[in-house]
Amino acid sequence: MSLLITGGTGYIGSHTVVELLKLNKDIVIVDNLSNSSTLVLDRITKITGNSVKFIKVDICDEHALNTVFEQNDIEAVVHFAGLKAVGESNEIPLDYYQNNVSGSVTLFKVMAKHNVKKLVFSSSATVYGENNTSPLKETMATSATNPYGQTKLMVENILFDLAKSDEQWSIACLRYFNPIGAHESGLIGENPNGIPNNLLPYVAQVAVGRLPKLQVFGDDYDTPDGTGVRDYIHVVDLALGHVKALESLSRISGCQPINIGTGNGTSVLEIVNSFKEASGQDIPYNIVPRRAGDIATVYADASVANDLLGWQASRDLNAMIADTWRWQSQNPNGFE
Ligand code: NAD
Ligand code: UFG
Repeated sequence: MSLLITGGTGYIGSHTVVELLKLNKDIVIVDNLSNSSTLVLDRITKITGNSVKFIKVDICDEHALNTVFEQNDIEAVVHFAGLKAVGESNEIPLDYYQNNVSGSVTLFKVMAKHNVKKLVFSSSATVYGENNTSPLKETMATSATNPYGQTKLMVENILFDLAKSDEQWSIACLRYFNPIGAHESGLIGENPNGIPNNLLPYVAQVAVGRLPKLQVFGDDYDTPDGTGVRDYIHVVDLALGHVKALESLSRISGCQPINIGTGNGTSVLEIVNSFKEASGQDIPYNIVPRRAGDIATVYADASVANDLLGWQASRDLNAMIADTWRWQSQNPNGFE
């Protein structure tokens, strides 16, 4: 039996594939390579000594997905495939709805047709919207402030309806907080196209000299140093959360939202200072006005993950930053 990993050549997918291969799981990756490259596959093999089956497929292509399920004995799916840039989603919302929502519905239909009803879905803390106070709990109201967030919320709601309609489904909706870091080997990591939107890849590219200066979006928030506070989680801890979620699916009935965060908040300036220390590089920055849509403080109540999955994050901020820097400095141009 194999695990199907959609989006498995991407940032979080590739780290999860590594952890699953270490457990000798049989893996089939499908990815359309819209935001990744097959170069990661050799790196995965280098780390684990195991190889992985890759099939270039777009999850919107029902026919191709059907063929994947016909030709492989799939027992469960981890669904990472999706577009993820908040700013871009405001510019091309229809592409986001088609790719993330229609693509997911297509995947779920093909899964149901082949009687595969175990799923781990990549959701996001973005579904908590702007009106809740951290620590964020799974029972809080959800909302979305941009098309990307809407797609995550819509897919979650589709999955709640699906699980209600058929009790054979076991679904873990993992609500990630802010994934950062890289595999400790320095062989795989985040490789954004163009200028990064997120803080850590941006800081890393300033440190390595690819970008001149960081812009810190606001220092007048109601936080200890005035800059935004987020719950950064090491991507390997996040990957291990998927391993635990897969192991726990037999105990989950219906669709269960689960926060995957550390429960700790770190400010933008704390990140900049830690990065400076770990890299020995200067990180020049300017304070600029707040970015539209940002909120002051976001961190998880991660107790459901602990109770239900037996999972908790174990890698601290120093490891997250050191591993980001190792990846960035050893691969200044990503996988190329
Ligand atoms: P990523 O872009 O590195 O990986 C996503 C992968 O999906 C890419 O390899 C891309 O080529 C592939 N893909 C996209 N559309 C596809 C399609 N239609 N068919 C097949 N493959 C497709 O992103 P990531 O950071 O690894 O994120 C993985 C998932 O986690 C995404 O669903 C994302 O929304 C979610 N998420 C990410 C973050 C984050 O900060 N990185 C936070 C919360 C949730
Ligand atoms: N920031 C800067 N300068 C930058 C980039 C970011 O100051 O160049 C600040 C932001 O204002 C924020 C913090 O750094 O305070 C983190 O910003 P990111 O863009 O890295 O992350 P966000 O918390 O805004 O959003 C991320 C993902 C979303 C996901 C969310 C989950 O981009 O997709 O985490 O909580 F939904």
